[in-house]
Amino acid sequence: MITSAITDVVGRRVWDSRGRPTVEVEIALESGAIGRAIAPAGASRGSREAIDLRDGGEHLAGYDVGTAVAQVAAKIAPSVKGLDAADQRSIDDALIALDGTKTKSVLGGNAMVATSLAVLHAAAADAGIPLWKWVAQSNEREPTIPLPEIQIFGGGAHAGRRVDIQDFMVMVPGAADFEEVMEVTSNIYRAAGRVMEEKGGITGVADEGGWWPNFDSNEEALECLVRAIEMAGEIPGERVVISLDIAASEFFENGEYRLALEDRAMDADGQIELLESWLDKYPIASIEDPLAETDKEGMRAFTQAFGERVQIIGDDYLVTNAALVEEAASDGACNAVLIKVNQAGTVSESIDAYHAAQAAGFGTIVSARSGESEDTSISHLSAGLNARQLKVGSFTRSERMAKWNECLRMQCQPGMGGFVGGEALANTWWGRSQ
Ligand code: PGA
Ligand code: ZN
Repeated sequence: MITSAITDVVGRRVWDSRGRPTVEVEIALESGAIGRAIAPAGASRGSREAIDLRDGGEHLAGYDVGTAVAQVAAKIAPSVKGLDAADQRSIDDALIALDGTKTKSVLGGNAMVATSLAVLHAAAADAGIPLWKWVAQSNEREPTIPLPEIQIFGGGAHAGRRVDIQDFMVMVPGAADFEEVMEVTSNIYRAAGRVMEEKGGITGVADEGGWWPNFDSNEEALECLVRAIEMAGEIPGERVVISLDIAASEFFENGEYRLALEDRAMDADGQIELLESWLDKYPIASIEDPLAETDKEGMRAFTQAFGERVQIIGDDYLVTNAALVEEAASDGACNAVLIKVNQAGTVSESIDAYHAAQAAGFGTIVSARSGESEDTSISHLSAGLNARQLKVGSFTRSERMAKWNECLRMQCQPGMGGFVGGEALANTWWGRSQ
């Protein structure tokens, strides 16, 4: 008898950080071990991601997940019961075959990712070890505590498109340990709040907990971020650097990049020139989705020009897909990939994307979505895979802090490696300046 055989699978509707329904799956094993996980949800989604299955219609503004939850009892449970939770790959393969679509539209990417992650948790519980350790052991990786990217101002689809750029973040590659990252970020976050207060108007927060972007231009957000870093007693570019998620697909239409806030439209060259002027003026070490997911030529040109200088992350552009990572590597587009488990739909496919990135020499950043919950699986995945970087949103709201706080717990556990720190940015101007 396999004690890690799955005996029970339960799906339920729970609620996410935007007050919308989402899918939770709980898995029980023969041994009595239990694993549970909650699907996150994106707002600025790549067009090639796994489908987040919603009921549509008027009820709960169409966001209900009745069909996805029903699929857990009707289809997923009967097909995975009796399988060995320790064999993540065969369970994920079973889910992929059962769904039968490229986009996971039958079972729903949300039902699938919650199931896949719940299996991972159950297997770790059965082995009697923390999730990060299970991930490290089963993938033969040396676990480490990742370098965070932390949002200070929100924007784009997470803030009513009040500015066009989506994430204005800081990284603290010069920190000696994770504690220092948290302290420095806390100081910068609160300083940014004072900057916003001084500017007047409303000082609320956006979807991921960053300050609401009350700016007259996109560049003003960068100026304010630099001011906040200085007010926190830091020299921008030394211990602290800036990271941006442009999420350019969100404002790319008919071949043009349209910055609504500035009433300005540009072609890819114009967009690249604008970003170049920011790279020249501000200590930016990482930039995500600088061009749109459909603008392969733009992404190649940008990577050609700046790939030696900054980290260039594909999020919407690569959607946690191994084949797309391989293609980008041979095209010379991007030099890093964002790993979002729900973009792929299963843990195994996300790990495939991770391996493809490793093979290509790409950086890897495990990431949350803008719709999140108390689920901290991604902190464990980032540490266990030795992904080296973690992006979970801002420095407020418990769905974000839960992930940072989990890193503080993990770093004290036996067998965990050290804090990655500036090593993660070794291939950028920041790394070369050290
Ligand atoms: P999303 O945004 O979760 O709304 O897609 C996160 C990101 O773009 O990194
Ligand atoms: Zn992104």
